[in-house]
Amino acid sequence: MRTDVIVVAAGSGQRAGEGLPKQFRDLGGHSVLRRTLTRFIGQPGIRHVQIVVHPDHAALYEQAVAGLPGILPPVAGGATRQASVRAGLEALAADPPELVLIHDAARPFVAPRLIADGIAAAARYGAAVPGLVLVDTIKSVPEHGYVGTGPDRNGLRSVQTPQGFRYDLILAAHRKLATKGDLTDDAAVAEAAGHRVALFPGDPANTKLTLPEDFVTAENKLLAELADVRTATGFDVHAFAPGDHVMLGGIAIPHDFGLTGHSDADVVLHALTDALLGTIGDGDIGHHFPPSDPQWKGASSDRFLAHAVERVRAQGGRIAHLDATIICEAPKVGPHREAMRESIARIAGVTVSRVGVKATTSEKLGFAGRREGIACMAAATVRLPWRDDE
Ligand code: CTP
Ligand code: MG
Repeated sequence: MRTDVIVVAAGSGQRAGEGLPKQFRDLGGHSVLRRTLTRFIGQPGIRHVQIVVHPDHAALYEQAVAGLPGILPPVAGGATRQASVRAGLEALAADPPELVLIHDAARPFVAPRLIADGIAAAARYGAAVPGLVLVDTIKSVPEHGYVGTGPDRNGLRSVQTPQGFRYDLILAAHRKLATKGDLTDDAAVAEAAGHRVALFPGDPANTKLTLPEDFVTAENKLLAELADVRTATGFDVHAFAPGDHVMLGGIAIPHDFGLTGHSDADVVLHALTDALLGTIGDGDIGHHFPPSDPQWKGASSDRFLAHAVERVRAQGGRIAHLDATIICEAPKVGPHREAMRESIARIAGVTVSRVGVKATTSEKLGFAGRREGIACMAAATVRLPWRDDE
């Protein structure tokens, strides 16, 4: 059956604390909303995804959905979740689906099983929600600080999203209940409109990011998935030639000589590029950017490093650390260290605290000691998803 998904993302995330509204906050390199959307896109049976957002968040929204397929133009949300869902349902009316899944943007861990079960239960029952049994004893709190008797937890479920419905059923229910205040989920709307709502098993991992500490837990969960920690090294040398500056770590440093090379001869960025490529066993800089290829003549080396970063990201990896040791008698590196760290951090998309830059002379020994050129050693550490095939 034709199934569309509504993702409500128009809230302000009051309980999640300071900063951007929670659905736009970063979680391991992607916004919460983007993570949620990628869980639905491409799942069997899903046609379109309709996102509901606050108009003030248009720029954040554009960033979150950039490049994602199957997304309908966004629709503006309302003052309550209920009003936002209704706006999403109305937006689908022109080309209505048979079934609709309604999901909170703030639940980025929704799994394929839950999506498939939601579609199947909606088709079978017309209205169905994922529920979890309660493990804790529940108490009422009639007086502040004191507990009263609670309900029997055996008769209770905590309910999640995605909630699945026949589209015409839930649209009519929302229209009917439009003036009925703030019902916090769509099962309540369906029920208030007189429908029976079925249950299917929820997923304890499908948590809703609500409080500040939920973000800490979520980050840790993502990090635990990146359990394949790898370190690799890189090394590069370029010779001095006539010139008035050298490029090191993307920074132009005035000097009595320049460095020769096919590109801009930035030994630091070249060594770091090789270190990063090494972490994923993906060849070396010469393999990706052959010196024989005229298009790299004089090229600014930040693109080499950015390319290696992209290769790591494409495997779901995150950069934990980049470190470089520059070996030369001159120029002095110390005064430029912070600028170099910032430049490398910017190219690699990491915080400056994850970048180390050191320098040493070689006590006048060897080619660096004779001031014939500059060498750089580098190391990179990345975290990758642990894959079962290894
Ligand atoms: N939501 C919405 N429109 C609203 C309120 C909420 O689209 N007017 C969305 C939220 O963006 C979220 C989902 O509904 O994805 C679940 O709501 P909740 O967790 O309560 O989010 P917020 O209302 O944003 O958070 P808070 O209640 O802490 O302010
Ligand atoms: Mg809310």
